[in-house]
Amino acid sequence: MKQRDFATRSIHDAEKPLKDTGEFGDVVIPIHLTTTFARKEPETATRGMDYSRTGNPTRQALERKLASLEQAKHGLAFASGLAAETAVIISTLKSGDSIIAGDDLYGGTRRLLVNFGSRFGIEVKFADLSNPENALSVISEKTRMIWCETPSNPFLKITPLKEVCGLASDKGILTVADNTFASPFFQNPIKLGCDIVVHSTTKYIGGHSDTIGGAVVTDSDTLFESIKFFQNAAGGIMSPFDSYLTLRGAKTLAARMAIHERNARSIANLMASSGKVKEVFYPGLETHPLHSVAVQQMTGFGGMVSVKLNTDLAGVRRFLSGLELFSLAESLGGVESLIEVPSMMTHLSVPPDERRRLGIDDTLIRISAGIEGENDLIDDLESALSRI
Ligand SMILES: Cc1ncc(COP(=O)(O)O)c(C=O)c1O
Repeated sequence: MKQRDFATRSIHDAEKPLKDTGEFGDVVIPIHLTTTFARKEPETATRGMDYSRTGNPTRQALERKLASLEQAKHGLAFASGLAAETAVIISTLKSGDSIIAGDDLYGGTRRLLVNFGSRFGIEVKFADLSNPENALSVISEKTRMIWCETPSNPFLKITPLKEVCGLASDKGILTVADNTFASPFFQNPIKLGCDIVVHSTTKYIGGHSDTIGGAVVTDSDTLFESIKFFQNAAGGIMSPFDSYLTLRGAKTLAARMAIHERNARSIANLMASSGKVKEVFYPGLETHPLHSVAVQQMTGFGGMVSVKLNTDLAGVRRFLSGLELFSLAESLGGVESLIEVPSMMTHLSVPPDERRRLGIDDTLIRISAGIEGENDLIDDLESALSRI
């Protein structure tokens, strides 16, 4: 056969459309960068793949992995946690509906619900979902969804999922759990009756602070179809490269979570006994008001600890500047330990009155325990606490 020109070969050789877009026996799922897939016939997409916004083999591998991690049927991967949340809200709610959301939420989720909910005629009511009675007291005929974060951000509140999901499903109300803090390693809300789970995969699932992403997981074919339709129609997909990094992160989730938790537990104990702290928020402590519920619905308590330091803002600044191993940074769930002040950082978008009402003041510190050596983290914190 006559050899083709270099220019032709450089474009076409080894770039023939793959016959099978699934796994090829690769040990690692490849980063599948193509934007489009060639067909033999106009009507028939090659193995269901037509355009990478609609479906991409690397992203689909991750989507299958996410479903599997949450022990659910379907997974979908988005460009960020907030893109995943937007997909859930827009695909399931309409103008005139009402949503009940936990009062302790990531500030960006609250901002999304409040700012865009009101623009599109969706009423948002906040309630402390640690007590399901609080949800019952604000349910109305218009309530279509209950949205909880458990453990929540920043106070690590626990929502009793079986109870809340039970009362919601009796009334035909959808339940959504943001499972970012627990990670699928420590909690599987679908198994506890939730309709939808969302994740910021930016956090524990990605695990290395190098990729932003989000996930939606569900057992329901109907919810999956409508959220997938929105994923393609609006286009907030996770890229193949981010999907690859997230897949890579997911492989070590179990090993990392065990160390995150070991370190968080030590930090919570140190803080509780330090004499420098007014309150410690960690569901693994027996003093946590919903510790017994956490024991029932989680297999571990996670790597996040919040504390209220017994000092003023100047003391908080001295404490923060005394740390060597904890970076002062937003986000969480990476291998490196992070620390932040929610009132000035992650929860700055919560209106000041609301922050005051919720107790998010300048002495509240949120810690994401990394997977460094436990003793090094404790030494670092002890030395910073001595500066208060
Ligand atoms: C609990 C929780 N949910 C959702 C998000 C939003 O995720 P992303 O930053 O990936 O959009 C965050 C971000 O901090 C979060 O902490």
